[in-house]
Amino acid sequence: MADNNPADTIPEMQQDAQDSSNAPAASFDTEKLRQLIQQLEAQSLSRDPGLSKLQREEAEERTAVHEFWSTQPVPKSSEVVVADGPLHPPLAPELIPKVPHPLPSGMEWCLVDIDSPNEMNEFHDLLLNNYVEDADSMFRFNYSLEFLRWALLPPGFNKDWHVGVRESATGKLIAFISGIPVDIMVRDKTIRMAEINFLCLHKDMRSQRMAPLLIKEVTRRVHLVGIFQAVYTAGRLLPKPVSTCRYFHRSLNPKKLMDTGFSQKLDGTQLAKLVSSLRLPILTSIPGLRAMRKGDVSQVRKLLNRHLKTRYDVLPVFRTDAEIAHWFLPREGVITTYVVDDAEAPGKLSDFISFYSLASSVLKPAGVARSKGAVRKPHGVRPQTTHATVNAAYLFYYGTKTDYGVSLTEEEKLACGGHKKEKALVKEKENALIGARLTDLTRDALILAKEAGFDVFNCLDMMDNAMFTRELKFGPGDGYLRFYFYNYSSRSVPAEKIGFVML
Ligand SMILES: CC(C)(COP(=O)(O)OP(=O)(O)OC[C@H]1O[C@@H](n2cnc3c(N)ncnc32)[C@H](O)[C@@H]1OP(=O)(O)O)[C@@H](O)C(=O)NCCC(=O)NCCS
Repeated sequence: MADNNPADTIPEMQQDAQDSSNAPAASFDTEKLRQLIQQLEAQSLSRDPGLSKLQREEAEERTAVHEFWSTQPVPKSSEVVVADGPLHPPLAPELIPKVPHPLPSGMEWCLVDIDSPNEMNEFHDLLLNNYVEDADSMFRFNYSLEFLRWALLPPGFNKDWHVGVRESATGKLIAFISGIPVDIMVRDKTIRMAEINFLCLHKDMRSQRMAPLLIKEVTRRVHLVGIFQAVYTAGRLLPKPVSTCRYFHRSLNPKKLMDTGFSQKLDGTQLAKLVSSLRLPILTSIPGLRAMRKGDVSQVRKLLNRHLKTRYDVLPVFRTDAEIAHWFLPREGVITTYVVDDAEAPGKLSDFISFYSLASSVLKPAGVARSKGAVRKPHGVRPQTTHATVNAAYLFYYGTKTDYGVSLTEEEKLACGGHKKEKALVKEKENALIGARLTDLTRDALILAKEAGFDVFNCLDMMDNAMFTRELKFGPGDGYLRFYFYNYSSRSVPAEKIGFVML
């Protein structure tokens, strides 16, 4: 198991203690003083009102102690990763425990059967009442049952990776964590990983070091099938992100977003101006745009894999048509995919774009519907709203052929005067074509999402999204999503080179 595997790094504190035991007293004092100064600097930095939320979190992280993560195969926050590769080799089968880690008394491990309506309802309710909230506890993700089935039952799923914890006395589901298998390409290497998601603890169970037990248990189960790497995302800063992406939001229903407190309060005139500036065309603009069908699956697979491989540094590899059919064929209230019939090549597709549906519950003011033990950040004026949810569409994957076969004229080649400059010009032309096409595709996706009743369209500044967010009037949000690898040290990846979307 990872927490006592041979490649684990020695936690910083232990290392310091070992180093200092042989050192003269003066250098020990100097070292302690250096640490103290660093801590004070980080503390005062983290209180500096001039810092952004991101900078404050990073300042705090410099002195954070990670009792659990410091024992795991992940880089330390202070480490500068200079090469990619696993932190420990595959574990010999005899080193992987065959039975689950013990839980505190009164709790027991269980599997959640995603095919059982009763168990799915329990799991759905756990998330509905306890899953991710925004920083002000005004909204909480509200994954639908169909969405959860889609997310957890892809081809090759492993039912042993749908791990729950129940209260022994009542049988109540109080915690969950899951994994699904995924092939992830990190630069030039493709690695079989577990994609870990839906880590959730009932609010009454927080701050009792249960999360490490869940993480260790799903890790053990993943190890048992010979997989030793994982990918996961979190809003919070842990050791150590491979990339940090920012959320962007495109309002489709400004009044509802304002009424629910999702966006800033405006007076009547300001709101009218905003509504008019955000108005979208009634009809989509791309000829041949239509909902994806079964017969499109293998073309979508080729388009997507090529787009991902040519554009990004971290990407999933879709090996089979079954995976594409699962992830992309439209499912009402879950995933929407539109393809474009190529006008110049009958029977061929030129592009596709997809988005998934994930509502957020609008939370009641403190004290009205809170479960015991919930920690709520104080918040100023809460809007009075009758809306129960904000319906959000999240951009998923896209692909386009618009950059295929870009070449230079003889004059352009001459003007370049060398291979390097020619390559740069080809790249520039490809980027311009992709930027323009993605802008049109996403504008049409916004129109379709609005028509389908979504209130907001969200994306991260990952993939080529920065090419269209400004023009299509997406605004930066205050949320970030960090990408992490378990047992894989990777040089950091800029947001625009992340080509992997996690639900
Ligand atoms: C995330 C959650 C399970 C953490 O539970 P908790 O009671 O706050 O934390 P615990 O006391 O059990 O464990 C603390 C350890 O877990 C780690 N941890 C907390 N949240 C984590 C996350 N999202 N991913 C990985 N590790 C996490 C902490 O860093 C800490 O380890 P450290 O001491 O090495 O830093 C809980 O807050 C929760 O269910 N939140 C709502 C859902 C959610 O945010 N899920 C995560 C989605 S990414």
